Amino acid sequence: MMKVSLIVAVDLEKGIGRDNDLMWHLPADMQFFKETTKGQIVVMGRKNYDSIPEKFRPLPGRQNVILTHNQSFQAEDCLVFHSLNDCFSHFKNENTRTIFIIGGGEVYRLALASELLQEMFITTVNKVYGADTFFPDFDESLWEKSKIGYHEADDKHEADFTFWHYKKK
Ligand SMILES: NC(=O)c1ccc[n+]([C@@H]2O[C@H](COP(=O)([O-])OP(=O)(O)OC[C@H]3O[C@@H](n4cnc5c(N)ncnc54)[C@H](OP(=O)(O)O)[C@@H]3O)[C@@H](O)[C@H]2O)c1
Repeated sequence: MMKVSLIVAVDLEKGIGRDNDLMWHLPADMQFFKETTKGQIVVMGRKNYDSIPEKFRPLPGRQNVILTHNQSFQAEDCLVFHSLNDCFSHFKNENTRTIFIIGGGEVYRLALASELLQEMFITTVNKVYGADTFFPDFDESLWEKSKIGYHEADDKHEADFTFWHYKKK
C-alpha cells in the first residue's frame, strides 16, 4: 500500500518562502531533508522545481515528480503529472518507496486536503522572515505530534529549530 508523507520547514508565521526562494540557509535542516527523502519519491509543484538551482535538480537519488497544469511541460529525468490524483494513481501499487510531498505552498495545500496523507515532518524555525508563501493551517487534533530533534543556533545556523513528526490519528 502506497505511503504518503510530507516534509516542510516553517518559520514562526508558518512562512515557507519568499520571491520563489527559501528564506534561510540551515545546513542541518537541509541534511535532515536529504536523509529523510533519500531513495524515495519527491513530489513538488512546478514553482518549487523552478526555484531549485539547475545544478541541483533533479534532486539526486530520488524519483522527482513535478505537478503542473501545463500539458507540454517536460523536465529531464522527472515524471510530470497534471493533478495530485493522477500522481497517486500512478504510484498506487508502490510499496517500497514513500511518496514525499515537498512543496511548495500550493502542493502542500493539495496534500493536506487528501485522505492519503499519513505523516508529516515539520521543522519549525524560531524566527520571523517575512514570507510571501505559507504552510496552510490544518487541524492539529487529527494528528499525533512528537518532537524528534532540536538544533541550536550557531555560526552556521542563524536561528534554532525543532524537528517535529506528525502521524495521522
Ligand atoms: N520551507 C519549505 O520547506 C519549502 C519547501 C518547498 C518550497 N518552498 C517555497 O515555496 C515557494 C513555492 O510555493 P508556491 O505555492 O508558490 O508554488 P508550488 O506549490 O511550488 O507550485 C505551484 C505550481 O504547481 C502547479 N500546480 C498547483 N496545483 C496543481 C494541480 N492541482 N494540478 C497540477 N498542477 C498544479 C502549478 O504549476 P503551473 O503554473 O506550471 O501550472 C502551480 O503554479 C517557494 O518560495 C519555495 O522556496 C518552501
